[in-house]
Amino acid sequence: MTDPQTVLSVQDLSVSFDTPQGLVNVLERVNLEIREGEVLGLLGESGAGKSVLADAIMGLIPEPPGKVTGRVLYSGTDLRSLPESELAKIRGKEIAMIFQDPTSALNPVFRVGHQVAEPLEIHAGLKRRPAMLRVIDFFRRVGIPSPETRVANYPHQFSGGMRQRVVISMGITCHPKLLIADEPTCSLDVTIQAQILELIRNLVDELRSAVLFIFNDLAVISHMCQRVLIMYAGQIVEEGPVDDVFEHPRHPYTQGLIRSVPRLGARRLEPIPGHLPSVHEYLQGCRFHPRCPLPDKDAHCAQVSPALEPVRAGQRVACWKMGPDDVDAQR
Ligand SMILES: Nc1ncnc2c1ncn2[C@@H]1O[C@H](COP(=O)(O)OP(=O)(O)OP(=O)(O)O)[C@@H](O)[C@H]1O
Ligand code: SF4
Ligand SMILES: [Mg+2]
Repeated sequence: MTDPQTVLSVQDLSVSFDTPQGLVNVLERVNLEIREGEVLGLLGESGAGKSVLADAIMGLIPEPPGKVTGRVLYSGTDLRSLPESELAKIRGKEIAMIFQDPTSALNPVFRVGHQVAEPLEIHAGLKRRPAMLRVIDFFRRVGIPSPETRVANYPHQFSGGMRQRVVISMGITCHPKLLIADEPTCSLDVTIQAQILELIRNLVDELRSAVLFIFNDLAVISHMCQRVLIMYAGQIVEEGPVDDVFEHPRHPYTQGLIRSVPRLGARRLEPIPGHLPSVHEYLQGCRFHPRCPLPDKDAHCAQVSPALEPVRAGQRVACWKMGPDDVDAQR
């Protein structure tokens, strides 16, 4: 068997925004790779920059006020170098995104069935009726009742949770090679969430799609993903195989995240002290410095940003105090 191909390679991707309060560096030098048949998780607190990363990969950051630098290689082609017309073709056919905010993904003046079927007609070459039948099938699979009649409704006729299911159908009906799922089930109840996660898994198993899976629940990430990236204040602070990162977290932030997960039977939660800084408060050195509990953090941490360095096979950490040799001493 040949090695799985790299579908997406993001290299040194940074995003800043010009705001009335000045320039803010929301995302800093993000690197990641996703291979075919792989689900890569992205985890981080609200405001960490996960959706900005997803939008930047899709070429959806408006410039200005945004400024994007770095490379987004899809099957070897830098999407950032393509004209919008070429990018739009690839986006509809091979790369799909399930948006976190379903309202912004749907056009209020078109019927939802038409909006989900259109890419199938344009990119998959399906005629109108087979395309609509496929949409009805997907609406049923994501738990939309009476899909035959619901395809004729407009977005405002759906509740928030139902709109999210429409957007999920839109993301997966065209069988993308790369799917970016930005908190795809955040407003759905757990039973329908499980069905939708299963649909995404099938996409990966049957079509060997590559998925960037953004989610704020460690248990779901652990169930869905082979590898995970931990993002703090616009930087990746740890990455590696899910089991390694969750069982042996090396970055103090990842350790805090895992300790703060509510557990059955536990009487007290252990939240990470402090709060994620706003983008206007980002520091020049390690952005986690003000919250870091390590006793030996020092002035160097506050001045120079640490790069991701390997600590064990496949696992990398951005922390000056977590080299491969002294990892065990810190635990
Ligand atoms: N156009 C913009 N101008 C200025 N700041 C922005 C802009 N878009 C996003 N940001 C800021 O970038 C930061 C990251 O936002 P983002 O939506 O990516 O967070 P997130 O990790 O997806 O959070 P959540 O889990 O709540 O979805 C936020 O502080 C946000 O305010
Ligand atoms: S680099 Fe320093 S401040 Fe940042 S997490 Fe590591 S020890 Fe803490
Ligand atoms: Mg988000």
